[in-house]
Amino acid sequence: MVGLGPRRPPSRKGSMADVPKDLVAEIHKLETLFTVSPEKLKQITEHFVAELAKGLSVEGGSIPMNPTWVMSYPDGYETGTYLALDMGGTNLRVCEITLTDEKSEFDIIQSKYRMPDELKSATSEELWDYIADCLYQFIETHHGDCSNIPELPLGFTFSYPATQNYIDEGILQRWTKGFDIDGVEGENIVPMFEEALARRGVPIKLAALINDTTGTLIASAYTDPDMKMGCIFGTGCNAAYMENCGSIPKIAHLNLPPDLPMAINCEWGAFDNEHKVLPRTAYDVTIDRDSPRPGQQAFEKMIAGLYLGEIFRLVMLDLHDNKEIHIFEGQDVSTLRKAYSLDASFLSFIEEDPFENLQETHDLFSRKLNLTCTRPELELIRRLAELIGTRAARLSACGVAAICKKKGYETCHAGADGSVFNKYPNFKERGAQALREILDWPEKKNRRAEDPVEVLPAEDGSGVGAALIAALTLKRIKEGNLAGILHPENYK
Ligand code: BGC
Repeated sequence: MVGLGPRRPPSRKGSMADVPKDLVAEIHKLETLFTVSPEKLKQITEHFVAELAKGLSVEGGSIPMNPTWVMSYPDGYETGTYLALDMGGTNLRVCEITLTDEKSEFDIIQSKYRMPDELKSATSEELWDYIADCLYQFIETHHGDCSNIPELPLGFTFSYPATQNYIDEGILQRWTKGFDIDGVEGENIVPMFEEALARRGVPIKLAALINDTTGTLIASAYTDPDMKMGCIFGTGCNAAYMENCGSIPKIAHLNLPPDLPMAINCEWGAFDNEHKVLPRTAYDVTIDRDSPRPGQQAFEKMIAGLYLGEIFRLVMLDLHDNKEIHIFEGQDVSTLRKAYSLDASFLSFIEEDPFENLQETHDLFSRKLNLTCTRPELELIRRLAELIGTRAARLSACGVAAICKKKGYETCHAGADGSVFNKYPNFKERGAQALREILDWPEKKNRRAEDPVEVLPAEDGSGVGAALIAALTLKRIKEGNLAGILHPENYK
């Protein structure tokens, strides 16, 4: 089958021979459902390019294409000490970063705090108080008594779609990644955050509000000038790149110089919310329907780590409940019925099972789900994990290719971060193969030759990137270059 990537180690090739015919037929159906052909990838990419432009236009489109007021790359000579707060989908991380006098060098200390799941649907005050508490603890541990120290500048990485008229403002467009907290959507989150800091007595001054993709773009460009975009493939998925103000019709009224750079947080998770091109399956439809924000983040829901395990779980249940083959026949599947009980690491584990008889997968199902799998069922499980992981990697390549096409980049690097990119087996290789198919590159001369567009592991965007953006912002204030920092009426 075309474009599926490595199916299994050669030593296991013969194993499908033992699988009964009806199960093989079911596997073929799944292959048809989850395989994205090169032609489809190209069609998705074409539509993507048009949607990127639409998001920048006055009328707007479903991809928000948010201007971020990050208007330059660092030159490597930024200095100073900054705090960085990263509120991703799963953890909260606080860092203190010192950009040293050595070009592109930095020191970092950091602490991670688990975001309790309940916080995703808590009250707004509970959320901000929890965050303020973590910051308080961090400062107390590293600086001692909070009441005695001067305010530290903070880059806050808030990785959700937000409208920014200024760099220290963020009007939440909508929650993503399963968050569902009332009273925050449509509001500027900065005052809420600052009020919580004041309640707790945390000596911090917010310098910039940042998206993780913008941080990734800036941190990656800090050490590699060929980096032209920052991507996150983690709990959520998204990218940022540098646009020229002259190509952003929706901010034309600000009369900024047309060649002035402006980082755009695409929020491409919202691509194809109208369901025009993405090859959605009934399982994708169910995920969307049962999510806290149906109709939103169509692309993200097929790619991001939060959803991969859930897609897998829904297929397994369907095969148990509705198909003639009835996998796990006669067994109690109640654990499998629990929504979001499997995460992307469950699939990674299955794909990494090195044993011919899939012993580790067998043990995983027994340990986590209380299910005993037959050998043919294990073959189906392995194939399904490969199909879901491969589809995610191939679709994500459409976004990267679309930005390259929009900007006319024939060669460049893209910096990528996130648990799926860093930990999911074969994600990078499958994505690279899809880029080759979309952009029609000739076969590589040798395995180690670089591709024209390489998606590479990024520098730490929400830590170092946030500190750099805080530094660049404070530098602009000093220089009196105030676009996006002061109200436009005050900007000449
Ligand atoms: C958010 C983006 C974020 C991405 C990766 C998405 O759900 O909307 O703002 O960049 O996740 O964290």
